[in-house]
Amino acid sequence: MSFSYPILPGGHLLAIEGLEPPHISALLELAESYALLNRSGKTQRDLLKGRTLINLFFEDSTRTRTSFELAGKRLGADVINMSVSQSSVNKGETLIDTASTLNAMHCDLLVVRHAQSGAPALLSQKVSACVINAGDGTHEHPTQALLDALTIRRRKGRLEGLTVAICGDVLHSRVARSNIHLLSAMNARVRIVGPPTLIPAEVARMGVEVHHDMRSGLEGADVVMMLRLQKERMVGGLVPSSREFFRFYGLDAEKLAWAKPDAIVMHPGPMNRGIEIDSAIADDPERSVIGEQVEMGVAVRMAVLDVLARELRRNA
Ligand code: CP
Repeated sequence: MSFSYPILPGGHLLAIEGLEPPHISALLELAESYALLNRSGKTQRDLLKGRTLINLFFEDSTRTRTSFELAGKRLGADVINMSVSQSSVNKGETLIDTASTLNAMHCDLLVVRHAQSGAPALLSQKVSACVINAGDGTHEHPTQALLDALTIRRRKGRLEGLTVAICGDVLHSRVARSNIHLLSAMNARVRIVGPPTLIPAEVARMGVEVHHDMRSGLEGADVVMMLRLQKERMVGGLVPSSREFFRFYGLDAEKLAWAKPDAIVMHPGPMNRGIEIDSAIADDPERSVIGEQVEMGVAVRMAVLDVLARELRRNA
């Protein structure tokens, strides 16, 4: 696949906000071709041959870090997972000094997850490597939104005109913000559903519908996207109790019946079973596409690395 224009202007992927619909569509097309390649069991080990990818995760991760590692290896990169807990960060080294050190080793691609919103953008100004945001604070998680979009497109054939209900802890969710930007850009109808304490005013201003009741929020939805209740980021009593949260906002068969009969169920993971989603729904192969989201994560990250490798070649 060839492109006549840069898909990721600036040579980084820091956010979905700012990407134009043709950029998003091109990334999804490329990711679709990688999804097919992965299912065929083939690899393309020459594309990133001689390139070094460093995973720099200051927060825990299973899906994102592993899929970037797999994606890099399937494209032929040398992949290093830096263990922050065993690094000089523990001796007080700053984020920028850590990145500058990695930069001096001529790293080509730096995948960064950090608790502070804006940390990857700051790094992108300090290093010569391409920087990929793997989740920063409550700001964005761009590759998650891309893999969600790819999964929806594969199941529904399009994004435009679909009604997508994003439910639960929107306040702390970088996944929700990236999805709102992407789905709105692609002309999907986005609904945010949750208790008033978990829906920030800033999200309500992003041109989405806001519902505090699951029934009205899910009515006629094509896609029901559940979010993890991020207890580790909560200050104060935003939610009365897990049991009460599940009663009003947890997805079970009764609430899912308000959505379209063929609505798909998504969750970025990791899940709190019995809090935001009932196990019977999460594990229902007729409705849940959670496993496919993980599979598409590898394909999307291969597409992002492929596009950035083209930028590296262009600037060489
Ligand atoms: N969805 C997601 O970012 O999962 P991890 O925290 O496991 O990477």
